[in-house]
Amino acid sequence: MTNADLEKMVETSDEWITARTGIKERRIAPDGLAASDYAHEASLKAMEMAGISADDLDLIILGTVTPDAPLPSTACILQDKLKAKNAAVVDIVAACSGFIYGLEYAKAIIQNGQKEKALVIGVETLSKIVNWKDRNTCVLFGDGAGAAVLAPSDTPGGILATYTKADGSLARLLQVPAGGGRLPLNTDNIGNGDRFIQMQGPEVFKSAVRAMEEAAVSILKQSGTKSGDIDLMIPHQANIRIIEATAKRIKLPMDRVFVNIHKYGNTSAASVPIALDEAVRSNRIRPGDKIMMVSFGAGFTWGSVLVEW
Ligand code: COA
Repeated sequence: MTNADLEKMVETSDEWITARTGIKERRIAPDGLAASDYAHEASLKAMEMAGISADDLDLIILGTVTPDAPLPSTACILQDKLKAKNAAVVDIVAACSGFIYGLEYAKAIIQNGQKEKALVIGVETLSKIVNWKDRNTCVLFGDGAGAAVLAPSDTPGGILATYTKADGSLARLLQVPAGGGRLPLNTDNIGNGDRFIQMQGPEVFKSAVRAMEEAAVSILKQSGTKSGDIDLMIPHQANIRIIEATAKRIKLPMDRVFVNIHKYGNTSAASVPIALDEAVRSNRIRPGDKIMMVSFGAGFTWGSVLVEW
């Protein structure tokens, strides 16, 4: 869906969306396709790249805020599609930080020897919970999936550090109020927009820049790495101005920052793994490179992962 398509739906313009967000187009899941369908495709590609089969997996962690259904977890639905019968599986709800949280948990579980091969996925079909009449939000979001396989290795490098944080006191700034136990769906709120994403954009923007900087600075400090040592930052793709402000604050030139927001918009938990995949497949990442992934999302949640590729 292009900005021109959106101009026909709400009072907006390609100029406004491009200048304020950097987004030119986003992918939209058609009716009948849900998170597990996209997670399935991404998982197959990740497993192919890693050279493993579904039988090898003993852990699947799937980050999403747009599950196929409230019950069971989308990870269970995915496990069945993959026939990954040896895997323990779980969804995590950390919004745009879902993939970063998933990497931290998978790394810890592998490191303590409980599991060996983990599949971590970020997937969203945000188009299903976007209010297509609200120009403040509908221009921002898109659908997609990305996945990565984690396994123990004797080679030096790999995941060097992880960092995760949250602040639930700011939850109201970015939320879907209805559809849970507090405000079950009923005929009133189905019509009034409460089942869709509601956001205080400028407040979220300020928090995002602060939190992304904190996540980057903290992981650099924790790992004894300088920002000049980072070959590529893979930030959550929410707004090009958030990405640029974060890079500026940590003094990282934009040629060391991966950006694909113009093609996909904000795909929440899927944004970092989609960008990681594109960076790997386009040779922007080479063996030995230091990669810093940084995210921020609803909750609020934020975090970072430092990898030596
Ligand atoms: N098209 C045209 N005008 C729009 C618009 C759109 N799609 N959306 C909002 N506007 C208008 C507003 O109504 C406002 O008009 P007003 O001044 O007459 O009231 C004006 O543009 C400026 O709005 P404002 O919200 O101050 O713009 P902004 O510069 O803060 O940009 C966001 C808005 C949403 C792009 C920006 O705040 C943002 O990116 N926030 C963070 C969002 C985010 O990352 N969320 C997910 C976190 S993971």
